[in-house]
Formats: sequence, structure tokens, C-alpha cells
Amino acid sequence: MVDLSVDLGFLKLRNPVLAASGTFGYGLEFAPFLDLNAIGGIVVKGLYFGPREGNPPPRLVETASGLINAIGLPGVGVEKFAKETLPHLRKHQTAVLVNVCGASDEEYIRVIEHLDRHQGIAAYELNISCPNVEKNGVCPALNSDHTFSLVKMAKQASRLPIIAKLSPNVTDIVEIANAAEEGGADGVSLINTVLAMAVDIETRRPKLSNIFGGLSGPAIKPIALRMVYQVASAVKIPVIGIGGIMSGADALEFLIAGARAVEVGTANFIDPAATLRIVGEIEDFCRANSHDRIADLIGTLKI
Ligand SMILES: Cc1cc2nc3c(=O)[nH]c(=O)nc-3n(C[C@H](O)[C@H](O)[C@H](O)COP(=O)(O)O)c2cc1C
Repeated sequence: MVDLSVDLGFLKLRNPVLAASGTFGYGLEFAPFLDLNAIGGIVVKGLYFGPREGNPPPRLVETASGLINAIGLPGVGVEKFAKETLPHLRKHQTAVLVNVCGASDEEYIRVIEHLDRHQGIAAYELNISCPNVEKNGVCPALNSDHTFSLVKMAKQASRLPIIAKLSPNVTDIVEIANAAEEGGADGVSLINTVLAMAVDIETRRPKLSNIFGGLSGPAIKPIALRMVYQVASAVKIPVIGIGGIMSGADALEFLIAGARAVEVGTANFIDPAATLRIVGEIEDFCRANSHDRIADLIGTLKI
């Protein structure tokens, strides 16, 4: 038996594989495809306070090795989620994390204060990549002062742990991770999508109605891995690795580079049971290489 459990300090997971926000619905949609109890956790689709439509189509483009999305964070809002989804989701023996969004700092806090009244959430993942109306649409994740102040506010408002989800669209990811840690974040997760675009040569129009979108999938894995390694080397709080993880081997690269857990995103669109398959592949690797505990592999990169 391989012990796949990992300890984030504020949260123990049965295994290090979580479903990434926005690629796994609100979790229950994937119950027909896999046993939700068998994965480490589910990060539900980003929630603003109220319901939202998102951007008009086209809002998804496939690329050579990934996906560009400009979905625009549609969602059901906190009330409907807490009333209709959470009671079913929390019956599962897997960690439920809520990806918290806000068009203003105040909205993030309203989302947290509302959800804090309900049971069954293990932690909040603060999606600091939302366009902020008070900062001309610039998201908090691009600025260390804003990251610091927003994380601090969220931490003070919340009874639950806060994980700050970082954007790769910055010059110095370590500076932003440090700001999140100083603001009181219990952990950081990275990376969100990489800013990208695609052009239709027939119409000479952008392929996305929003012009820009976020690139995800295998194309971004080396960038994500580099950033996870840099951040894990610089902060004391746990790091969750995200970006292009399609297999157990991909996940193991992140764990060896210092991530204590990983999130799987775009892979769910190709194989809805990808998270569970990846858990199995990690276990097979450990067994084949006589590693009794996955935790012993974390941060063991030899330089
Ligand atoms: C269609 C789509 C929707 C997403 N929605 C969210 C979201 O609501 N909140 C969030 O923080 N990240 C969101 N993301 C980003 C993913 O959670 C993840 O950080 C990113 O896709 C990189 O991982 P991957 O390469 O495994 O997909 C979304 C990604 C995709 C492709």
C-alpha cells in the first residue's frame, strides 16, 4: 500500500490531486464519470456574489497544445451554490474548495462572508485574476501591493484558510507570492492561465469575442513548473501546482519541484476521469519505485 496522503498544514488531503477551478463545474457534474471520494479535492468554478453570464461566444479556441478560453467567469452566484449544490457536495469525502471571485475588493469579502455561514467548505482559493473595476480592470494578481491588501482583507474576514491563486502574467512571480504570504495567505496555488490570443486569417478577426483569452493545457506546463519551483523555494506556506498536468508523470514533476499538491484543469475536457487516472498513475509510479509515501517525494529535486 502506498500512502498518498499529503498535509497542507491547514488541510489534510487523501491524495495530492485536486480538480482545478472552472474545469470541473461545481463537482457534481462529474459524479457520473468518477468516484468523487477518490480524488484529493475539488475546487469549484469561480463564484462571484451574484449570478453571471460570462462573455458572449466564441469563447474557446483550441491551439496546438492547449486551449485559449475567454469564458468570462459565468456562474450561479453564492446563494444558489450554497443552497442547491453545497449540501450534496459536502456529503462526499473529498475536500471542497471554493474559488472566490470579485469585481471589487468588497465583492470578494461579501462572497466569503456569505459562504462562511455554511458547512462543508475546506478552504477558499482566492481568484485574484478577476478584472477589478476600481483598478481600471487590472486584476489584483498583477500587483504585489494589491495582492497583499486583498489577501489580508480576505484573511481577516474568513473563518477558513485562504489560498491565493497566482497569475503567471507578471515579471516576478516570487514578488507576488511573497506579497500573498505577507498578507497572511495559508497557501498559494499557481498558475492561472497565460494571456494569449488567436486570429482567424479568413475573416482577419480575433478568434475570441474578447480578443484575449487564457492559455491552458500542456503548452503551459514548463512555465508553470518553473514558477512553482521558484515560489516553493521562496515561501514557507504550501504551494499547489497547476498548469498542463495531463498525467501522473506531469503531477510528479510538480511535486518533486516542491508543490505539496496539484490541480488538474484542461485534462478534464479530454478525459472527465483524468483526475482519478492521475491518482492511479502516481500510485503506480510509487509502487514501481518503492516509495511508500508520496509525501517523501515532495520538494526532492536534486540541483
Ligand atoms: C475553461 C476554463 C475555465 C476556468 N475557470 C477558472 C475559474 O473560474 N477560476 C480560476 O481561478 N481559474 C479558472 N481557470 C484556470 C484553471 O483553473 C487553471 O489554473 C488553468 O487552466 C491551468 O491549468 P490546466 O493547464 O491544467 O488547465 C479556468 C480554465 C479553463 C480552461
